[in-house]
Order: sequence, then structure tokens, then C-alpha cells
Amino acid sequence: MQLNVIILAAGQGTRMKSTLPKVLHCVAGKPILQHVIETAQALSPANIYIIYGYQGDIVKSKLSTTGVKWVEQQERLGTGHAVLQALPHVDDPDSRVLILVGDVPLISKETLTDFIARVPADALGMLTAQLPDPTGLGRVIRDANGNMLEIVEHKDATDTQKKINEINTGIILAPTRYLEKWLPLLQNHNNQGEYYLPDIFQQAVKEKIKIVTHTTVAWEEVQGINDRIQLAFIERYYQLHQAKKLMQVGVTLCDPARFDLRGELQAASDVTIDVNVIIEGKVTMGSGTVIGPNCYLRDVTIGENVVIKSNSVIEESTIANDCVIGPFARIRPGTELADTVHIGNFVEIKKSKVGTKTKINHLSYVGDSIIGKKVNVGAGTITCNYDGVDKHQTIIEDEVFIGSDTQLVAPVKIGEGAVIGAGSTITQDVEPRSKTVTHRLEQRVLKDKKK
Ligand code: UD1
Ligand code: CA
Repeated sequence: MQLNVIILAAGQGTRMKSTLPKVLHCVAGKPILQHVIETAQALSPANIYIIYGYQGDIVKSKLSTTGVKWVEQQERLGTGHAVLQALPHVDDPDSRVLILVGDVPLISKETLTDFIARVPADALGMLTAQLPDPTGLGRVIRDANGNMLEIVEHKDATDTQKKINEINTGIILAPTRYLEKWLPLLQNHNNQGEYYLPDIFQQAVKEKIKIVTHTTVAWEEVQGINDRIQLAFIERYYQLHQAKKLMQVGVTLCDPARFDLRGELQAASDVTIDVNVIIEGKVTMGSGTVIGPNCYLRDVTIGENVVIKSNSVIEESTIANDCVIGPFARIRPGTELADTVHIGNFVEIKKSKVGTKTKINHLSYVGDSIIGKKVNVGAGTITCNYDGVDKHQTIIEDEVFIGSDTQLVAPVKIGEGAVIGAGSTITQDVEPRSKTVTHRLEQRVLKDKKK
């Protein structure tokens, strides 16, 4: 039986108090709605429809939604009205529709697959959950035998009903033909003046259609995000979940509550990650690598036994084994460090290759450069790679020694084994094994008459 997914995402999310539509707020660096779309895609349904409305163009432009169909809900008249907008696009009347909520981002493929499997083809299904704090949500009302009668929204509920902890997660599975029959019958006689989707369950009771509710134990997964407090809760829940998975494969997280994974991390065993580390994009780390506190890593490949000391920022770069980086180092996109390279404090490296055992330990800028093996770059060395119009390359061959406070005005090449004296401004290529120093001002001793 064909499965279609409808994701409800037309609301503004007024409780977020934001100009940004709610579904574009991020969990783990990814828009809330993107999480739901990816989970829906993982189910391989025949079609995915997203009901959009508030700031629809912005919502569409910020998401990657290949193969997803957008359906506009021009007026936000309620969740029932929202689903109704998609129905004309669902052409197989014998199909089923799974309704997902655009503000419930952590629902997993496993929970959904299990739920779908429990609902017979001709039944109406609802995923419910028992929440410690059900405030704001639709309560599941059951008769004495435990059969579901209806959903009562928090705003319409009596004090007794508000004490019920079982809630509608918003995730509903229904045969398309029932939706076609029941949605046009919905009334908006409630405290919000909206056409409530869950009211179709009253219709099912009336017509004695089988209702299957499944109460998921994964209650954190079905938490919706309506305000920033819930956003923060979901973020921390997600992060803790990721942290546990990493710890299970042998990663030490010095404080799992202060770890932020906003992408994918592939870490070998015996990696240690200190507090306040932020990971974005795709990052891999070899065994024995240690990441110090307050580091930011985006799209980086790091080898084994690398030490990245505190407050370092590394983006789009490759770092081989046994390197030592930081504290306070900045490695910018396009950098490749070979084995056993040392990059020290306040060093910035951009789009450069650095050979094995080379040391750039203090206060330097290296850009658009190729540096050989066993090179020593002294403190305060700067590659002057930009003339205001173009970028130029600096080549430093193996075993060169660059004295402190040297400017290398690119394009320039320093031959193998050459030595540059401290304080030089090098504007021409330097021969291998030569010793070069540029003109220095004479040092004078001043006689101070007062002393
Ligand atoms: C809804 C359910 C509630 C359930 C809760 C679970 C209804 C009436 N209530 O309440 O029973 O416990 O979700 O999280 O269904 N939307 C539209 N168009 C509209 C209105 C809403 O697309 O006209 C979208 C919103 O963008 C949102 C979703 O539907 O993604 C749910 O709407 P929201 O206003 O957040 O409903 P809740 O009050 O959370
Ligand atoms: Ca909601």
C-alpha cells in the first residue's frame, strides 16, 4: 500500500518571538524542518508534501528538499485545514498518509517504522506519548475500557482533562479516503477557532472505524518545539544522545553536557574531546587524538595522536598524524599538514601545505605557501601573499631556517637548507644552502646625559 507523507509547516511559531519562521530555527545547526524532511525521506514514501505558509519563500530557500512537493496553505486555519490543502495532490485514493509535524524534529525513522507497522491498512493511527509535562498539548481522552474517544487541545481542556499525561504527538497515519471524507466535515467551534486535525478521531469513533494508538517510550523524540525553552531542551537532548553514541565507540568526552555536534563526527577509539568543542560539517579523528577545550572544527580530517590545544579554530583542512596545534591556532581552508608538524600559538595558516616535522610555533601568518620538511619558521614570520590585487605563492624548501620577524614577499622561493637572518624582508628568491639577511639599521648606543 502506497505511503505518502504530509509535513505540516505553515505556522509562524508566534511563541518563538522571532522574525525567522519557527521551522528554520536550528537544532544541531540544522533547521528543525530539515530534520523532519530527512527522516521522512528515510522512509522512502511515494511522495512527501510540505504544507508551507508563513514566509514560505524564505523557508523554501533555506532547505534542501530534492523530490519534495510544496503545497501552500494561504490562510492558517488549523492543522486539519493544512492537511486538506495537500489532499488534491495525493492521487491514489487507496494510499495511506502519514502526517508529521514540522516542529517535532527528533522523531526517528525507527519509531515511525514501528508505528506504521502497528496500524492495519484500514485503521486510523495515532502516535501518543506519556509526558511528564504535557502543558500546551492535545490530551488523549479514553473511555473506561481504554478506547480512545477524542483529542482535547490544552486550550479547550477542563482542569480534569489537563491532568492527563498522554498526549497526541501530532503524528497520525490515515487511509487517504478517510481524510478525504472527514476533513471537509471539520468544524472550528473551539477556543482557537481552528480546524483541528485530531478531530477526525471523533468521526472515526462515530463511524466505528478501527483506531490504533501506539504510545512510544521515546518521549523525548516526540517533543515539539514551540518556544526557545523547548528548543534548548531538544538541542541538549540531541547532543547528549550523540555524545552517548561517541562514548560507546570509545571517545572520552570530558563533559558531555558541553559538547556540540552540528554535523558528523567519525572518531576512532581513544579520542579525547575536552569541554566546549564545536564540530560542524564532516570531521574525522584518528585514534589517540586529543582536542583541547574551546576548539571549533569544521570539515576537518585529523590523523592519529594529534594534539589540538585549547581555543584553536580549524576549517576545511587535513592534519596528518602526530601534529601538535595551538593553543590559539587558526588553520584556514585548503591547508594540509603532514605528519609531526607543530603549529603554535597565534599562528594563522591558509591554503598551504606544510611538510613533515616543520615547526611554525609563534605569531606567524602563512598563506598560499608550500613548505617542505624540517623547516623552522621563526616567530613573527609573515608571508606577504597579497599585493592588493592578486594572491601569490611562497615556496620554502626542506630544512630552511627562517629567522624571527621575517617578511617573505610573494611570489618568492627559499631554496633547500637556506638560512634567513632575523628581521629580513625577502623580495627575491634565495639560493639553496645560502645565508641571507637584508639590510639592517645600525645599532647605536645613546648616551643619556641625565644619568
Ligand atoms: C498540535 C496538535 C496537538 C498535539 C501537538 C503535538 C492540533 C490542533 N493540535 O498542537 O494535539 O499535541 O501538535 O506537537 O493539531 N500548522 C500548519 N497550518 C496551520 C496550523 C498549524 O501548517 O494552519 C502546522 C504548524 O506549522 C506546526 C504544526 O502544524 O508545524 C502544529 O501546529 P501547532 O500550532 O504547533 O500545534 P500545537 O499547538 O503544537
Ligand atoms: Ca507545535
